[in-house]
Amino acid sequence: MSTVTLKNVTKVFGDSVVAVDNVSLEVEDGEFMILVGPSGCGKSTTLRIIAGLETATGGDIYIGGRLVNDVLPKDRDIAMVFQNYALYPHMTAYANMAFGLKLRGVQKKEIDERVKEAAEILNIGELLDRKPRELSGGQSQRVAVGRAIVRKPKVFLFDEPLSNLDLKLRVQMRAEFSKIHNKLGATMIYVTHDQTEAMTMGDRIAVMREGGIRQLADPGALYQSPANRFVAQFIGIPPMNMIDGVIAEEGGALLFKGDSCRVTVPDGKGDLLRPFLEKKVTMGVRPEDVSVSEGKGMAEAVVDVVQPLGPQKFLYLKMGDCEYTARVPVETKARVNDTVAIVFDMEKVHFFDDATDRAIV
Ligand SMILES: Nc1ncnc2c1ncn2[C@@H]1O[C@H](COP(=O)(O)OP(=O)(O)OP(=O)(O)O)[C@@H](O)[C@H]1O
Ligand SMILES: [Mg+2]
Repeated sequence: MSTVTLKNVTKVFGDSVVAVDNVSLEVEDGEFMILVGPSGCGKSTTLRIIAGLETATGGDIYIGGRLVNDVLPKDRDIAMVFQNYALYPHMTAYANMAFGLKLRGVQKKEIDERVKEAAEILNIGELLDRKPRELSGGQSQRVAVGRAIVRKPKVFLFDEPLSNLDLKLRVQMRAEFSKIHNKLGATMIYVTHDQTEAMTMGDRIAVMREGGIRQLADPGALYQSPANRFVAQFIGIPPMNMIDGVIAEEGGALLFKGDSCRVTVPDGKGDLLRPFLEKKVTMGVRPEDVSVSEGKGMAEAVVDVVQPLGPQKFLYLKMGDCEYTARVPVETKARVNDTVAIVFDMEKVHFFDDATDRAIV
């Protein structure tokens, strides 16, 4: 069993820097868990607490069901891979991978087997005699991962392992990480600030902000049912359009009256929105749920920028002072400065309570 459990974990640096704020998290055996969030939100600190490189100010950490608060990093049965690889420059890839095992007194034959097995998984068999300066960034990162794999740890911890690589290699390595995870079936906790990386690799994703987890869900649920305004805007590129307004009633029907649009709330959302009558709410619309037409729509907008992107186009639209993004089919004719009618797919829009930032429906 290689579960990882955090119970009410807090880390305060100095007198007042709350880096991790009462985080509780259960990572299942064999799960690929992602911690994602903006810079400074406490991702690395959380990971370092699991590794034992940082002591929590409060709370409990369990690995494989065992309380490890007072267990040294080397006895926690974890392996951590950092952003900067931290390979020994004077050693070959082989020696780098073998080093930790040698220190632990593992037999030479077993070391050899484990290094070759890891090299095969990572496709670096040809590179084992090279020194780090003779390796590309992606190859170095594989060796760093190899060094973790040969340890056969209960849990792998990764702190932004791909952020030094160029975009193309990063995309390729994301797929590699998913493959490695499938092959090893190991528990992995992976830190990134990149929402695309999180969405493409994670079984589940914990979205962090200011030391706390704002939502923990699988990628689909995170995208379709964001729990609050922060998650709604952090996940998804381009971000969800956010329109300020109030809920009003006219002739028995509920309306959303926004800065530049008035729309009828669909029946299915009415019950949950009625308690917010006359209150300030924000309507969130994903770019793919905005369509444009030459006829009559819910509102009129002027096309500001057109970005063709292969099978689709992004339109940046202006309505008064508000800006919106629409993801439309590539055939859409709209040109810069055209006035277009826009339609929101009201079944798919989200509403957030301005008082709490929480999702209403
Ligand atoms: N050793 C330290 N002493 C004091 N403050 C620290 C220390 N380490 C981290 N912090 C603070 O704790 C907060 C969380 O830092 P952490 O490194 O966990 O963020 P992060 O989410 O990993 O950010 P990034 O994406 O930039 O790596 C930040 O405000 C940071 O300045
Ligand atoms: Mg970090």
